[in-house]
Amino acid sequence: MLTNINDMLRDAKRERKAVGAFNVYNFDTIRGVAMAAKEAGDAPVIMAFGQKYLTNMSMKEVRSLTDAITGTDPDLPIALHLDHCSDPDLIREAMDAGFTSVMFDGSRLPYEENVRLTKAVCQMAHARGRSVEGELGSLAAGRSSEEGGAEDRERYTDPDQAAEFVKATGVDALAVSIGTVHGMYQGTPNIRIDILKEINEACRIPLVLHGGSGTPEKDLLACIENGIAKINMNTEISQAAVKAIRGVLAESPENDPPHLSSLSLASQEAVRGAAKRYIQLFRGELQ
Ligand code: 13P
Repeated sequence: MLTNINDMLRDAKRERKAVGAFNVYNFDTIRGVAMAAKEAGDAPVIMAFGQKYLTNMSMKEVRSLTDAITGTDPDLPIALHLDHCSDPDLIREAMDAGFTSVMFDGSRLPYEENVRLTKAVCQMAHARGRSVEGELGSLAAGRSSEEGGAEDRERYTDPDQAAEFVKATGVDALAVSIGTVHGMYQGTPNIRIDILKEINEACRIPLVLHGGSGTPEKDLLACIENGIAKINMNTEISQAAVKAIRGVLAESPENDPPHLSSLSLASQEAVRGAAKRYIQLFRGELQ
C-alpha cells in the first residue's frame, strides 16, 4: 500500500527507530527492497528515486513497477519518494506520476532562496496530500558518490537556523548535515552527534540522515537515538549487488557467459539481503 512518509516517520521517531530509504532505479532494486520489507515483517520502507536516474527509468515507470510489485499488498507500507530534486517542475511531474513524497534540495542555494522555494514546494505538495523533505547544510562527497560531486563541501546544519527553516517552510522532514558523506568515506567518519542533539532539541520534526553507506553501525544507532527517523542508503546497496553479479560472472568461462536472468536474480538477492539487514538494524532488531 502506497503512503506518504508522514505517518511512518512520526511513528519511527516516537519509537526511536528509523525507516530505510533505499535508492531504486530498475526492476531488481524495486523488487529487492520490497522483498526485504516484506520479510522484515511488513516493515515500512521508502523507495527513493533520484532525479539523476531519469536516464534509467521515467517516474511513471517507477510508479508502475512499484505498483506491480507491491501496490496490491495492503499490509506493506511503502512510500514512493523523489530523492534530491532541485527542479520544481520535476517535483510536480513526480506528484503527477503518483509519488507520495518529495525532497526539495535547495541546499546549494542561498538560505533565503532555499526557504522561498522549499515553502512553495510545501504548499504545492501539501495541497495534494504529499509530504516534503527539505535540506539545510551540505554533505561532502566520498568515494563512488552518486548524489554528490567533487565540488561539494561539508557544511554542518546550524541548529538555530534549522528551527527557523522548519517554521518558515512547513517541511515534514529535514535532512541534516552532521558529518556523513554521500558515497563511501575516504577516511574515518566523524559523526557529530553533539550537533544532531542540538538540532533535534531545536526542531521537533523527523530528521533525515543522508549518506548512510559506510557509516559505522554504532553511529547509525546513535543518530536514531537522537531524532533521525529516515536513513538514506544508496552506494552500499548497489555495491552489494555488483559484487554478487561479479561472483556469478567469475564462475563462468569467458566464452560461455551466464544468462542475463541469473545476473538479475543475483542482483535482487543481494539488494534484498543488504536492505533487510539495514531495515532490521534501524528498527533495533539486530542487537
Ligand atoms: P549513500 O550513497 O552514501 O548511501 O547516500 C545515499 C543518499 O544519501 C541518497 O540520498
